[in-house]
Amino acid sequence: MKAIVQDRYGSPDVLALREVDQPVPGDHEVLVRVEAASLNARDWHIMRGDPYLARLSAGLRAPEPKIRGTDFAGRVVAAGRAVTRLRPGDEVYGEHPGAFAEYVCAPDDVVDTKPANLTFEEAAAVPLAGITALMGLRDAKVGPETRVVVNGASGGVGTFAVQIAKSLGADVTAVCSTRNIELVRSLGADHIIDYTRDDFTRDRHRYDVVFDLVGNRPLGRLRRAATPAGTVILSGGGVSEGGSLIGPMGLIVKGMLLARFVRQRLHVLSARPGTADLAALRELIEAGVLVPVVDRTYPLSKTPEAVRYLEEEHARAKVIVTP
Ligand SMILES: NC(=O)c1ccc[n+]([C@@H]2O[C@H](COP(=O)([O-])OP(=O)(O)OC[C@H]3O[C@@H](n4cnc5c(N)ncnc54)[C@H](OP(=O)(O)O)[C@@H]3O)[C@@H](O)[C@H]2O)c1
Repeated sequence: MKAIVQDRYGSPDVLALREVDQPVPGDHEVLVRVEAASLNARDWHIMRGDPYLARLSAGLRAPEPKIRGTDFAGRVVAAGRAVTRLRPGDEVYGEHPGAFAEYVCAPDDVVDTKPANLTFEEAAAVPLAGITALMGLRDAKVGPETRVVVNGASGGVGTFAVQIAKSLGADVTAVCSTRNIELVRSLGADHIIDYTRDDFTRDRHRYDVVFDLVGNRPLGRLRRAATPAGTVILSGGGVSEGGSLIGPMGLIVKGMLLARFVRQRLHVLSARPGTADLAALRELIEAGVLVPVVDRTYPLSKTPEAVRYLEEEHARAKVIVTP
């Protein structure tokens, strides 16, 4: 099968389209023919081995597995002996390394039935970003009238966060640039702050939940934007210059160290894939309250170009590749 493979860390130039062996599903796995895959910041962080600390778990010289990509949507072509929930022919979506390929093998507990009203491209946009948004808002106990600000509202995670927060009844402020105002308005944001003109961490408004997806503000300023008993969700972010030891993790480490000494809740988000959250997202999507936003679609052979675009950190929601 064809797959996007890398043998060393580096820029998108290290990504090569190659013929590799098709994976064989284990007892608890399904083999999926990938119809579409989506890109996430995670993919380029692993591709570059940036921050360096991430190489301790991903591999010292090159990342393992060598095939990039995480989010996928497609059709089950084979299921392991212990898999009872899914069978060949099922249209599914899920999250597992190795998605930039014609086939991916994934444990059945990270794969679920694809929302019926989405194309494969739209479905592939959902898993990692959708689960991150869902988990963040759930951990912060967002509900009716919670005042939530989403910094990075036009990105992959942000576009889901705005819509899910609205579906929970929250009062949502979206922070984005001028060109994305109409997009976040169409997703249901109640208030919009254009970051090219105003700084949400410096004005008089205070929020019950500050959901930070950009990492471009110091922790003290994010805390200032939250109420005295509010929650600051730290998800990573932070435009890395590359080649640093902890890169965007600096903000997270500070948050973890300070968390036990302050009244505000400083919550470090670590999204995990799972069928329960994929099912919850499917329900919202099929009910019409959650719509994935796709910015661009590239053929698999142009994955390096797609990653280069995502790395600029100005993609409008999700970028897709199709085999
Ligand atoms: N902790 C976890 O488990 C977890 C899981 C998933 C993702 N993450 C992290 O969450 C972050 C967001 O992920 P993502 O997929 O949403 O990224 P993304 O899609 O690459 O974000 C791009 C968006 O960010 C916006 N943006 C750039 N600079 C901004 C600024 N100064 N203020 C407000 N918005 C700005 C861009 O809008 P403009 O073009 O208008 O600037 C663009 O729409 C990433 O750093 C990722 O690593 C963490």
